[in-house]
Amino acid sequence: MKPKILIIGAGGQIGTVLVESLVKRYGTGAVIASDLKELQTPCASIQLDVLDANKIAQTIEQHQITQIYHLAAILSAKGEQNPIRTWNINMEGLLNVLEAGRTFNLDKIFYPSSIAVFGKATPKVNTPQDAPLVPETVYGISKEAGENWCNYYYKRYGLDVRSLRYPGLIGYQSLAGGGTTDYAVDIFHYAVKNKDYTCFLNKDTRLPMMYMSDAVRATIELMETDKSNIKIRTSYNVSGMSFSPEEIYNEIKKHLPNFNIDYKADYREEIARSWVESINDSQARKDWNWKEQYDLEKMVADMIKHLS
Ligand SMILES: NC(=O)c1ccc[n+]([C@@H]2O[C@H](COP(=O)([O-])OP(=O)(O)OC[C@H]3O[C@@H](n4cnc5c(N)ncnc54)[C@H](O)[C@@H]3O)[C@@H](O)[C@H]2O)c1
Repeated sequence: MKPKILIIGAGGQIGTVLVESLVKRYGTGAVIASDLKELQTPCASIQLDVLDANKIAQTIEQHQITQIYHLAAILSAKGEQNPIRTWNINMEGLLNVLEAGRTFNLDKIFYPSSIAVFGKATPKVNTPQDAPLVPETVYGISKEAGENWCNYYYKRYGLDVRSLRYPGLIGYQSLAGGGTTDYAVDIFHYAVKNKDYTCFLNKDTRLPMMYMSDAVRATIELMETDKSNIKIRTSYNVSGMSFSPEEIYNEIKKHLPNFNIDYKADYREEIARSWVESINDSQARKDWNWKEQYDLEKMVADMIKHLS
């Protein structure tokens, strides 16, 4: 059966790109994009607050939705400004989506988790799938709890929820939305305008990252793989690349030799220090054949080509 997809939080960094890809893949009529704000999308779009369970139910019925991609959340850095509100939006939002999935017997749900689930107790290099999780941000706590709720709905109700722990995502199509890895997007917008960039992380703070086209492809590949391939019902580690601000700066400088950077670390440095440096995603590779296409060099060249 052809899917009918509702994307919640479609107006953000990932949604903007995911909507386009899903429309290309399944057709304009197969996708409904939704967000708090009004959207300009190639498919139908509506305003929807993920905290409004009634409107989610109404939308599912009206459009005969079979799948939900639930992207709406408050991200790591922004989340620290109002922890209780962040918890409420991230958790109540997810529970509304899971309950709707159970009630309407939806075919599949996608839930993005994050490397923010890791903490200082986690091995920092080549972080394994089943690493200890003691997150230090309210965002990370909500994602870790969210992973466990997804697992619970699968085990208890058979709801087919699938999830990825995205690294920091980098793309030219959209701006980043309040996370700790936002610098890796912002830096390009300064570089191509010949402006100097002040980085909010230290030059050697290394984090796992992924190019947007890889992230969107991983998402769709996970959602399309046969159910029997999915062995992880919390959330899959996925890896693309790993670099520090100084390393991405040096790579950009190969294309734009006059570009300058300086470093003024703020509270986001502390968040980044509690995360990990690189991810072991062998389980995703084994279960559904995940493989990234972009490394640092290829990503930087593609970003500059598109933004110039
Ligand atoms: N971007 C990254 O690097 C990254 C990394 C790991 C995980 N993620 C996860 O992926 C998802 C999407 O991230 P993003 O970068 O696109 O975030 P974003 O902040 O750019 O976009 C989130 C969207 O959700 C919408 N939204 C917020 N509250 C809402 C509500 N109550 N109801 C409906 N919509 C609401 C916002 O208007 C926004 O358009 C999030 O769950 C995030 O935690 C992102």
